[in-house]
Amino acid sequence: MASGQLSRAEALACAGCRHACHVMLYCDTRTQLFGRIPIRHVVLMQMRFDGLLGFPGGLVNPSEETLEAGLSRELSEELGVALPISVEDHVDSCHAPSSSSSSRQLITHFYVKKMEEEQIREVEKAAASTATDHGQEVLGMVRVPLYAMQGGDGGLASFLSHSFIGNARSQLIDSLLSLNLVSSAELQKALANSLKIHE
Ligand code: GTP
Ligand code: MN
Ligand code: MN
Ligand code: MN
Ligand code: MN
Ligand code: MN
Repeated sequence: MASGQLSRAEALACAGCRHACHVMLYCDTRTQLFGRIPIRHVVLMQMRFDGLLGFPGGLVNPSEETLEAGLSRELSEELGVALPISVEDHVDSCHAPSSSSSSRQLITHFYVKKMEEEQIREVEKAAASTATDHGQEVLGMVRVPLYAMQGGDGGLASFLSHSFIGNARSQLIDSLLSLNLVSSAELQKALANSLKIHE
């Protein structure tokens, strides 16, 4: 485990800690952008109420619900769909960098769930219509552009240059790599280009 990371059990043993669970939902796709650029995968994130990009999910109270049931509840609120989340979907848990001295330490738990393209489309539809948090805590779902545009800016590079909540940006980057949704060469290029975009 990388530094700062905890096992799920260690994290749950922290009595005074607050817990938040978020999930990266994704699927394979044959869709092509402009009818010629293969998109390959759909990866969902959201534009939060505070203008930051993050994953769907939220605060969970382990004394009242399991982490996975809590995450599923948050998905009902934010996506309008009750998706079952299981312990097998858990990727890692870590201490969030402490923001204010008064608030209790936050542990963030990250999950990844592969879905069918049709399910992803249903999630997008519900999130934009029936989800109770739509337009409130969640301004909208976004698809992460995994491709590079000619010239290097645009696409993934531009996306990575935006502002993310907590360590959502590294959760995204690590997942794209470990699930092989983007090759490490493409990712390195996008990361390098993302730094040049607002120069
Ligand atoms: P409330 O109902 O208003 O409490 O919101 P919520 O339960 O949906 O909580 P939220 O999704 O904002 O997550 C709680 C905290 O976890 C946030 O204040 C952030 O510090 C952190 N957080 C939010 N999204 C992410 C994410 O995608 N990744 C990581 N690592 N942390 C996140
Ligand atoms: Mn189109
Ligand atoms: Mn929420
Ligand atoms: Mn949330
Ligand atoms: Mn909540
Ligand atoms: Mn809420």
